[in-house]
Amino acid sequence: MSAGPAHLLTTLFMAAAAMGYSSRRSATDLDATPRTTVTFDELSGVRRFKAHTLNYSTLLLEDDRGILYVGARGAIFALNSSDVADGSHHTIHWEASPEKRMDCLQKGKNNKTECFNHVRFLQRLNSTHLYACGTYAFHPLCAAIDANRFMLPSHFEEGKEKCPYDPARGYTGLIVDGGLYTATRYEFRSLPDIRRNLHQRPLKTEESPLHWLNDAEFVTSVLVRESKDSPVGDDDKIYYFFMERAGEETTSFFDKSQVARVARVARVCKSDVGGKKILQRKWTSFMKARLVCYIPYYEVLRSVCSLDGGGWASTVFYAAFTLSAQWRTMEASAVCRYNISAVQRAFEGPYMEYQDWARKWSRYDGAVPEPRPGSCITDHSRRKGYNSSQDLPNSVLDFVKLHPLMFEEVKPAGGEPLLVKKNVAYSQLAVDRVQALDGRSYDVLFMGTGDGWIHKAVVVNSGIHIVEEVQVFRDLQPVESLVISHNQRSLYVGAASGIVQVPLASCTKYASCYDCILARDPYCAWDGRACCTIATTDSTGLVQDIQSGNKGCRSSSGRGSLLWKNRTVLQGDDVLLPCDQRSNLARAVWLLNGSEVLGTGQDRLRVGVDGLLVTDTLPQHSGEYRCYGEEQGLRTLLATYSLTVLPELPRSPTAAPSPHAASQTTNDMKVAYISAIITLVVLCTVLSIVLLYVSCLEKRKGKYVLAEPRPASVELQTVSANCLRKGHREEEEEELTYPDGCLRIIPGEAPTAATSPVKELAVAVPPLPPPLPAELTNGVGALPNVLRKMNGNSYMLLQQQEEPLASPLYNASFTEELSKILEKRKHTQLVEKLDESSV
Ligand SMILES: *[C@@H]1O[C@H](CO)[C@@H](O)[C@H](O)[C@H]1NC(C)=O
Ligand SMILES: *[C@@H]1O[C@H](CO)[C@@H](O)[C@H](O)[C@H]1NC(C)=O
Ligand SMILES: *[C@@H]1O[C@H](CO)[C@@H](O)[C@H](O)[C@H]1NC(C)=O
Ligand SMILES: *[C@@H]1O[C@H](CO)[C@@H](O)[C@H](O)[C@H]1NC(C)=O
Ligand SMILES: *[C@@H]1O[C@H](CO)[C@@H](O)[C@H](O)[C@H]1NC(C)=O
Ligand SMILES: *[C@@H]1O[C@H](CO)[C@@H](O)[C@H](O)[C@H]1NC(C)=O
Ligand SMILES: *[C@@H]1O[C@H](CO)[C@@H](O)[C@H](O)[C@H]1NC(C)=O
Ligand SMILES: *[C@@H]1O[C@H](CO)[C@@H](O)[C@H](O)[C@H]1NC(C)=O
Repeated sequence: MSAGPAHLLTTLFMAAAAMGYSSRRSATDLDATPRTTVTFDELSGVRRFKAHTLNYSTLLLEDDRGILYVGARGAIFALNSSDVADGSHHTIHWEASPEKRMDCLQKGKNNKTECFNHVRFLQRLNSTHLYACGTYAFHPLCAAIDANRFMLPSHFEEGKEKCPYDPARGYTGLIVDGGLYTATRYEFRSLPDIRRNLHQRPLKTEESPLHWLNDAEFVTSVLVRESKDSPVGDDDKIYYFFMERAGEETTSFFDKSQVARVARVARVCKSDVGGKKILQRKWTSFMKARLVCYIPYYEVLRSVCSLDGGGWASTVFYAAFTLSAQWRTMEASAVCRYNISAVQRAFEGPYMEYQDWARKWSRYDGAVPEPRPGSCITDHSRRKGYNSSQDLPNSVLDFVKLHPLMFEEVKPAGGEPLLVKKNVAYSQLAVDRVQALDGRSYDVLFMGTGDGWIHKAVVVNSGIHIVEEVQVFRDLQPVESLVISHNQRSLYVGAASGIVQVPLASCTKYASCYDCILARDPYCAWDGRACCTIATTDSTGLVQDIQSGNKGCRSSSGRGSLLWKNRTVLQGDDVLLPCDQRSNLARAVWLLNGSEVLGTGQDRLRVGVDGLLVTDTLPQHSGEYRCYGEEQGLRTLLATYSLTVLPELPRSPTAAPSPHAASQTTNDMKVAYISAIITLVVLCTVLSIVLLYVSCLEKRKGKYVLAEPRPASVELQTVSANCLRKGHREEEEEELTYPDGCLRIIPGEAPTAATSPVKELAVAVPPLPPPLPAELTNGVGALPNVLRKMNGNSYMLLQQQEEPLASPLYNASFTEELSKILEKRKHTQLVEKLDESSV
């Protein structure tokens, strides 16, 4: 890295630190690689539901009844939660009327995506009825639905105050003790608003955009029952998580003119009934505070989930953030955890005040009236005669009106994120708490991505271990909702194309004790014979190690199938000994006749992520090669090869036909023809592959802008034609994904976008990528999944020390080397065939 950008990055971090966003650990330490990758085709045990519609985004699970309700586009479904695909579902068709659709069209809305009835709200209203709201082609409607008959009622309610008109608008809603608490921008002309309906005392937020909500986009709301066992007679509260335009400061270092959007948490009290004269029919308990997670680039709040471990005081919120819009060229996410106590502390701290003359918010240090503005009615206020918010003195209500924003920010527990992950945009979170065998409880996070994957992670101390990444949808689409069922031990995933039911854990896929322990999945333990789900058995004799993931196994015993193969090649050939590491966190270790192959020192042996490549073999390369996966200090034998290098080709039928072939038997003729054809076909294939590579490289030429020649550490990789392409996110696709079978060149700083915006780096103005990704790229762990997950036919050349980095030259030399290798490989394959037939 040159001094310029490095200096700049340091400056950035210092600036971030000065603003209070320091973090003890670097971005690399905060990153985590999913231990295993399960692609769509490898996925098993899932159930899928889809009907003739789209946008299965609103889920309501009634675990005790065994029903999963799904609000989709123009329909509501009731699915059997034990198996969403069992065909026993019930459907309510609820399409927008043709007149309203015409209306919608005339307003210039999209009749392919928008002019429908998108069901956005679906909750239990009372013991007999559900309550649902839909956008109804931009004329929202709501309905109470008899859950047993599961039919639309004859009478609908106006939805304008309860449901957004726009299907894509941020929205959240809850039914709490019969009251409907919703937050969104309800109509085209109206301002965003937090409302209470279906209540004797409907309430709204104050309509001053500057003070209460400023172009807010809502994400989630959470009820916290703080009245329960409260020593001060506190009230239940509803917390709102949203994004809004910041008035108090700009977070952009370079471009002060840009209006920053920030994440917020706000809250209202359930027993609020508004003021008498001032704040009549308005919340008197609305307060909001800034929610920060990581350095100020991670500003877009995407999802929040909450968990209370048996009492409201232990409530924690998990939140996922992605990069703000100005970093459009890359994807990255940060996940933070917040204690309810940290949120409360901010609401109990100093207020902010808007200074008209300076046109900005700053700390308010003046007198604060009694009872404390914005607090709920507690025993303390009742003793003073304030039995409800209507009794509050005018001074308090006037203060509330102008001081909704708190001075203190809500900082994550531990002061830093649990996870910072690049190339991923988390779109949804769900959390479960699992009692592990070590007596502790672990939070398991299920994180849905913007492209249809689920990351399952366990929170260990102040970090995260990602147990696995699972591709639940083949088509790229954001995960829109996640719901956990304890009764069914399932996770339900809602997205545009359908519903997927995934088991919370599939422990049986871990074949050995080591594998089971290394997974660090709190749902799983080794019972001596198999990896099993813990709650289904009693815990005696079970082995599990969530903390470090390597203790408890006596040996790598298990029913893993071991690969044992003989390979015979000719001197001078190249041979690849494939060895697929099941874990992305494992390091490949090769032993030749019992001593370790280092790969680096020996110029003809190259250890890659998916095998060992021996180039230009010599007879002394013969021997026994064992491949191990080494993880957390544990070594698992994965494959053994006996390699024999013959000094010369034994007499074989693959030799070219000789002039007196005619005199041979017809049998020999056949063999000769077939081998000739095979040779030609192979040659053709090789040629076309090489051509394809060259044309690919041609296309990419000039797109690589490298800061300066870097001396070392370049990884080259060929990717087999059948490797799966996960990296379909737009940015990544542009940067990395070429047509299947093409050569990928990954310079030391790739695969981040850091290769392209180098020019911008030099200019040192806003669109500078966040500093962290550069740190994340020096290991295999940081490779996109598609590169980590390769099989048999590919190999990796590590440490091409001597090559200078002028890229065209580099490409050419590699193409040459590749065609040479492929040419030879044809040879090898023939010999292999001969070898197999002789066994
Ligand atoms: C509904 O699904 C379609 C198809 O995937 C998508 O284009 C559209 O954005 C979705 N609409 C909403 C509101 O999610
Ligand atoms: C769901 O399916 C299971 C198994 O088929 C069945 O026992 C159960 O009664 C069904 N539940 C409902 C609500 O239909
Ligand atoms: C949408 O509108 C276009 C033209 O405005 C029309 O051709 C098409 O049939 C409409 N599609 C639907 C589903 O109504
Ligand atoms: C539930 O609400 C619906 C709609 O308001 C009402 O008709 C029904 O009587 C209520 N049921 C009970 C048990 O209160
Ligand atoms: C508040 O409630 C108490 C007891 O319920 C009552 O004695 C008192 O008069 C009430 N105060 C007001 C201001 O209504
Ligand atoms: C958050 O809460 C947990 C347990 O409730 C506690 O151990 C931890 O210290 C708290 N962290 C902060 C920053 O308050
Ligand atoms: C490999 O070769 C050895 C002798 O060289 C033989 O004993 C063994 O059975 C062979 N294994 C396989 C899998 O062919
Ligand atoms: C490994 O052992 C085999 C047989 O024991 C021997 O022929 C071969 O030369 C050895 N290879 C190396 C590299 O030491």
